[in-house]
Amino acid sequence: MMKIDTFKSPNPADDVFAVPGEAPHERVHWFHDAVSGMQAIVAIHSTARGPAFGGCRMWPYVRSQDALVDSLRLSHGMSLKNALADLPFGGGKAVILKSAAEVDRAALLRAFGACVKSLEGQYITAEDVGTTTDDMHAVQEVTRYVSGIPREDGFGGDPSPMTARGVFVSIREAMRVRFGRDNLQGVRIAVQGLGAVGGSLSRMLHEAGARLWVADTDPCRTKAARDAFDAVIVDPQDIVASDVDVFAPCALGGVMDAHAIARLRAPLVAGAANNQLAIAEDGELLHARGILYLPDFLVNAGGIISVAREYLGTGTHEAVLGEVDLIGSRVVELLDRSAAQGISPQAAAHKWAQEKLAMRV
Ligand code: NAI
Repeated sequence: MMKIDTFKSPNPADDVFAVPGEAPHERVHWFHDAVSGMQAIVAIHSTARGPAFGGCRMWPYVRSQDALVDSLRLSHGMSLKNALADLPFGGGKAVILKSAAEVDRAALLRAFGACVKSLEGQYITAEDVGTTTDDMHAVQEVTRYVSGIPREDGFGGDPSPMTARGVFVSIREAMRVRFGRDNLQGVRIAVQGLGAVGGSLSRMLHEAGARLWVADTDPCRTKAARDAFDAVIVDPQDIVASDVDVFAPCALGGVMDAHAIARLRAPLVAGAANNQLAIAEDGELLHARGILYLPDFLVNAGGIISVAREYLGTGTHEAVLGEVDLIGSRVVELLDRSAAQGISPQAAAHKWAQEKLAMRV
């Protein structure tokens, strides 16, 4: 029988109940499985609207504090995202600390599954950066509180295409409402990161007639985008400063800091990456520069909509497409709210999500 220990950080934060800059959480669980070597943190920000639902990231964090901060930030974002998407779920997130040592991956994922099971449905997991559908199969061997696994009829599974679709409709609606473009024909878009979401998004944008500038740390991905979409390859250091109409961050978080914002030339920023703003104030910085920033937790909800409907067993592929497309309508509503309240879209989205969190379901 596997033993689940409470993980003791070798470098504890000064006050784990008030990590600077992070929202207070309902619960934070540290897990350590001595047999597989698995170390994980499950952060549950809120269960006000229902069980906490959010993916499981596996990442080689340099320090365990980094893993803690990432889990808190991502988990808080899931509360905002699930609320704005009108899902009957709260916000939570798991991070597994990826070790340099060789591990039995399936055993590690099963150990993680046992952690999820021990939370008795207060947290539901799915794939995220660093984990795959196969990993969720391993988790499912141990617990039913998991999603992102294709059903026999093909419904569900990898959420990335739905995430990409949500970002696509967000860009399309913002270009229409704010910039008077009836379609994306000839619109210049820089995509940072050509992974599961960025790759799908690039295809959709290309098919809609957009011109693409792309960057990825993996040169195979940029070459593939150049060949398939006639995309211009840009150095990852410089993609943020591309002379384009839209900048779409689809790699990792924290890319919108003061330095990057000063270099931005695109009047619209909308992408899939979670926690794009390095600090909350960067939303105001973008607003002050006249750049329209669509908050990540609004536009990248397509994936959670997909795995949530799969989990609830209430979805069809067509219904999920329709629900993901509602993200475009929410972008339009957000712009109205932001203008009516005289605040930045980031602040208006936060306020809107807080109202929904307070209403519960
Ligand atoms: P992924 O791991 O498949 O792709 C990330 C890509 O970014 C990779 O191709 C990687 O080489 C590239 N990359 C890494 N550092 C880079 C840099 N400095 N410059 C340029 N490219 C770089 O991840 P995925 O699933 O596409 O997710 C991307 C982002 O979207 C993540 O922040 C994730 O949390 C977020 N997200 C993903 C969802 C999903 O359904 N997959 C749902 C909601 C958010």
